[in-house]
Amino acid sequence: MERDAASSTDIRDGHAFRIDGDAITLVFAQQGSVVPALIHAGAALPAAEDLGALARAVQPPRHASQPEIAPLASLWPQSGRGYMGQPALIARRGDKALPMDLVPDAGSTVGPRGFHLVFTDPVAGISIAIDWQISSGDVIRARSTITNHGTTPLAVDRIASLCLPLPAWATHATRFHGRWAAEMQEGTAAIPHGRSGGASRGGRPGFDGGNWLILHDAGFSADQGHGLALHLAWSGDHDSLIERDADGAIVQIGPRLDPGEIVLAPGGRFVTPDAVLALGLAGRNAVRRAFHAHLRRDVLPDRANWPARRVHLNSWEAVAFGMDEDRLVQLARAGQAIGIERFVVDDGWFAGRRDDRTSLGDWVPDAQRFPAGLDRLIATVAGLGMDFGLWVEPEMISPDSALYRAQPDWCLHRAGLDRPTQRHQLVLDLARPEVSAHLFGVLDRLLTAHAIAYLKWDHNRELFPNDGVGHAQAQAHHALIDRLRLAHPNVEIESCASGGGRIDHAMLSRCHRVWPSDNNDAIDRLRINRAWSLFLPPEVLGNHVGPCPNPITGRALPMAFRAKVAMFGHMGVEADPGAMAEAERHTLAAHIACYKQYRGLLHSGVQRELAFADAGLFGTMVADDTNALALVARTDLSGDYNARAVRFPGLVPDAFYEIGFPLADSAAGLALSGRMLADAGLVLPLSRPATAHLIAFTRQDHR
Ligand code: GLA
Repeated sequence: MERDAASSTDIRDGHAFRIDGDAITLVFAQQGSVVPALIHAGAALPAAEDLGALARAVQPPRHASQPEIAPLASLWPQSGRGYMGQPALIARRGDKALPMDLVPDAGSTVGPRGFHLVFTDPVAGISIAIDWQISSGDVIRARSTITNHGTTPLAVDRIASLCLPLPAWATHATRFHGRWAAEMQEGTAAIPHGRSGGASRGGRPGFDGGNWLILHDAGFSADQGHGLALHLAWSGDHDSLIERDADGAIVQIGPRLDPGEIVLAPGGRFVTPDAVLALGLAGRNAVRRAFHAHLRRDVLPDRANWPARRVHLNSWEAVAFGMDEDRLVQLARAGQAIGIERFVVDDGWFAGRRDDRTSLGDWVPDAQRFPAGLDRLIATVAGLGMDFGLWVEPEMISPDSALYRAQPDWCLHRAGLDRPTQRHQLVLDLARPEVSAHLFGVLDRLLTAHAIAYLKWDHNRELFPNDGVGHAQAQAHHALIDRLRLAHPNVEIESCASGGGRIDHAMLSRCHRVWPSDNNDAIDRLRINRAWSLFLPPEVLGNHVGPCPNPITGRALPMAFRAKVAMFGHMGVEADPGAMAEAERHTLAAHIACYKQYRGLLHSGVQRELAFADAGLFGTMVADDTNALALVARTDLSGDYNARAVRFPGLVPDAFYEIGFPLADSAAGLALSGRMLADAGLVLPLSRPATAHLIAFTRQDHR
């Protein structure tokens, strides 16, 4: 975290200070507590705002059931002074948890956009640093650091990356839950008294999406309301907690640790993963805008050098394990005919892999299926004008594999017990240097020997048995990718974990896209993508047209519908174009051509969701200064005969926009002002389920 010019600050009772983003101000104060609390989060305040007066204005009156030095929730809740909620830190020397009573220490600094606060408990021999920094998009990155100043080892069993006493308006929480093929299902509820929250235990964020949440007011909707969106930038386990008592509510997020997992030697320190916090003052679209801007500018690797996102053809739902060189060449040719730019060979290419029971670990081409190795296929694909991608699942090992026979103890296991599998596979112990070195060697050789432009990096099972190795495993995994990226900087990497099981900023700082879900059903994808798009921009969300009927849901949807939905992401195809009816193939090719025309806009513009009272309608729109492209889709039959006009907010109010319908061979013949489009909107033919429309807006004075 880069810190701006900061001046040292005196943390004492009554002291208030502020940090400012481009359009927001956060004010912190100590109101009897020893660690400051957030007392205001909102639109930018005047520079001359009297912070002392602000602090007095919002200070809750003392009540009789408090200790004299008020232990109200602060940026670091601690039990030593009578705070009765969950402490931010649980640490031990030996068996006994230490009572914690941090007081301000020297070295704290506050700058215009961030702070570094230092606290110490001289008796426990611990210091804590709390760092917050406002980054692009007015998104805040926060972390904490613990240092062991004692003379004995210190076990850290719990430590929060961020603790945030909630503003009074944050009465509701939108959290996410999910399962394979149904990731990121939203649930919104009033924050209950007591504890709510979630933790992952599988060594990755998981399908539950508990590493993303939004705390907001009761009226929070597409364009209205205040919200605080929170994410843990960590690919291992997370712990998020919302706690409400009679004094107010607080949210905490941090890594989930097993007792004894982190032990600091004297002088040692532990830095938490970053928490990412966005303040949205105009509804979900404001949160979306902040997260997208931050990810694009500060997180994604080398984004400035990204070429256009190439249209993929992925073999998985086209041929699954039924592949050989001839079949793949046939598939590649069919792909080339519809405009595919990258051919990705998914699972099934490596030694002996005929189903999901064998061969993970043996990352060499299957000799029967590829008698000439991979190079002849890659050359054919290149000759068709496409580059080449390959599926790998490096962290895993099949008990039935050459690697397992050679190194049976490289997997996570408990000596003397059986080795429980999931998807018939075990997890390699990446924290063992020889295991990570082996994997680097294998992947490095693969990328050196072959012209591979892209890796789909999969992760298809949870981490168990886990004797307190989850954090080290995630760190070793990151180190492996980092080393590989350094050696092969031009190779793009996708993070997949049976779909969206491992999506977080730590992966996104190393990868070029994520696989949001194995579910390519376009109706389900509208919902899944809307939820992911609260945090992630279209260019990182792999979005494919699958076969019909969909193999997961059994639903048959028209190609024109499926292809339009797939355009609002990083578009691809995961079906055999050669097996499609001529008309379908033609429709798909036309949509791919249209996507290529608009992807510059789709992958850099500001995205918003459109608001509908009708739950059977979905809409999204991406706009830059001169153009916008919207998708409006109906999933269920409308309860009314006439769908209401669809409103398109966010355009320049006084500019006029020509309205067109790409792929519909028609133009509306209308030009309307941005204000009119936002307030009155357009009536679209939206009565039938599984209909979708693309609407293009072109600013007239910019043509
Ligand atoms: C996982 C991925 C799929 C596919 C299969 C292959 O389930 O999410 O996209 O790659 O593995 O086994």
